[in-house]
Amino acid sequence: MKKRILTGARPTGHLHLGHYVGTLENRVQFQDDYETFIMIADVQALTDNFDDPEKVSKNTLQVLQDNLAVGLDPKKVTFLLQSAIPQIAELTIYYANLVTIARLERNPTVKDEIKEKQKFNEGVPLGFLMYPVSQAADITIFKANLVPVGEDQLPHIEQTREIVRKFNSVYGEVFPVPEAKVGETARLVGLDNNSKMGKSLNNAIFLDDDAETVRAKIMSMYTDPNRIRATDPGRVEGNPVFIYHDIFNSNKAEVEDLKNRYVKGQVGDIEVKQKLVVAINSFLDPVRERRKLYEDKDLLLDILKFGTNRAREIAAETLHEVKTAMKLFDI
Ligand code: TRP
Repeated sequence: MKKRILTGARPTGHLHLGHYVGTLENRVQFQDDYETFIMIADVQALTDNFDDPEKVSKNTLQVLQDNLAVGLDPKKVTFLLQSAIPQIAELTIYYANLVTIARLERNPTVKDEIKEKQKFNEGVPLGFLMYPVSQAADITIFKANLVPVGEDQLPHIEQTREIVRKFNSVYGEVFPVPEAKVGETARLVGLDNNSKMGKSLNNAIFLDDDAETVRAKIMSMYTDPNRIRATDPGRVEGNPVFIYHDIFNSNKAEVEDLKNRYVKGQVGDIEVKQKLVVAINSFLDPVRERRKLYEDKDLLLDILKFGTNRAREIAAETLHEVKTAMKLFDI
């Protein structure tokens, strides 16, 4: 039997290149070797968007389309909608007994998110504080072995592992302890040289940006600030333009040549950027082509429904095992 992957995305916006290198690339690579489940985590998205449900529903199919556009194959992958699997909510309630409030408050990703959100100034909703518990249920209801995620999710996977160990020791072995898997480029620098590319940071190239948008973004991106003329020797290390070249430009000889000339002051930033525009657009072209196959809303809904139905059956089986282990009457 193949091992399982479960991973998810909150449907709150378009996916960008940071998501691609952080986790999407891994998902695509693993889809043949693992039985893969990808969750559109609409319930989790509501934990910080409870007052904006339209944003969540509007982005549900968008996130699905982004996942399909990068090459996840709906014939191999089970796509599912979190809110349509009530067993996840049930399991979350059982897990809530196995976690302390203090432990939840120590989760560094949750802490950062609370700091960023002004709307939590007056108090953190219970649902938000405990979303890592519900994420543990997301992962384990499918008995996942591997969870490909971005770096910011590692604290959540660690918490899931703790919950699993606790559950298994209190009620008996039901779940495998899952492992996290982060992409080679765990964190992609933003267009503005911020250490992280992010939608809310306004420094991202989105997977659905058209060629002209990509061009405009790259031509105005941050580069070596100490270089005024093309004849000044430039810095390659830590320069976001070259970081992107290294990752997205498949013409390695071109990248080497640009780097050599850059440090010697023999190439202008414009040429380096123009070549990056070409590289990123050729990287995105197949993604754009595949996206066109999934423009139809009914098709997207069908993919989601089909996967969710299958996922619900598995979730029901697991929950039955859980109740049996917990000595609940499963009647
Ligand atoms: N927390 C993830 C994010 O913000 C989304 C998510 C929900 C998830 N459930 C998951 C990720 C389970 C991995 C596994 O993008």
